[in-house]
Amino acid sequence: MSSAAVPASKEQDRADRPLHVAIIMDGNGRWAAARGLPRAEGHRRGVEALRRVVRASRELGVLYLTIFSFSSENWSRPASEIGDLFGLLKRFIRNDLATLHRDGVRVRIIGERVGLEPDICALLNEAEELTRDNTRLNLVVAFNYGSRQEIARAAQRLAREVAQGSRDPSSIDADTLGRSLDAPDIPDPDLIIRTSGEQRLSNFLMWQAAYSEFVFVPMHWPDFDKAALESAIAEYARRERRFGGLVAKTAS
Ligand code: FPP
Repeated sequence: MSSAAVPASKEQDRADRPLHVAIIMDGNGRWAAARGLPRAEGHRRGVEALRRVVRASRELGVLYLTIFSFSSENWSRPASEIGDLFGLLKRFIRNDLATLHRDGVRVRIIGERVGLEPDICALLNEAEELTRDNTRLNLVVAFNYGSRQEIARAAQRLAREVAQGSRDPSSIDADTLGRSLDAPDIPDPDLIIRTSGEQRLSNFLMWQAAYSEFVFVPMHWPDFDKAALESAIAEYARRERRFGGLVAKTAS
């Protein structure tokens, strides 16, 4: 994702609708605890919510949907829960990839791949390869992702170019760094939703969120559905986006 603005002409006629929605899918554990269920059941129901939201995003004309599925910091959870989350991702790709492909969804992955098990890497590559020409919706899965780590990786890439003599340090500005992030062709999120009432970014898309609108909803992720997405988009439509300027609603 880059910090480059989407061209105003394209954005003008859809100023009230976000092109890119990013979601922090929080509250699976609390949803489960409230029902006396194991946390794993909350995550499993979270995958069902994800399916609903992918479908709803296509129906509502969202072009990019980024989901925070496993953070760099989630490694501090018990091994059994990490196993559950990895298992769910693997099953999601194995079970849903054909449907996603049929529905025109392009799967993209952001995050650190180095150190991941080879079978997970192979599945992530397969999902990206199979769907690479799809254009209806980009489903961007932030997996083993942390924003500070992503920015550090970008800095390393640029530092390597400087060390090799192919880049002058004075050429590095915000645009250059934005273009060195994990998915520089993806526009910045217009709307970031976090469920379960927490109001923080938790190391998610910190660079890309510079001018995002935030909507925090009290419901836990497993309860999230199309109506909740529509309601967050309606809230977004009521916001005035100025991008540091005075009046404009669009990123011109
Ligand atoms: C936060 O709930 C959610 C996560 C850490 C992971 C989100 C994962 C899924 C929805 C399922 C797997 C994803 C894919 C792409 C198949 P929490 O556990 O922090 O809940 P809590 O704060 O209530 O404990």
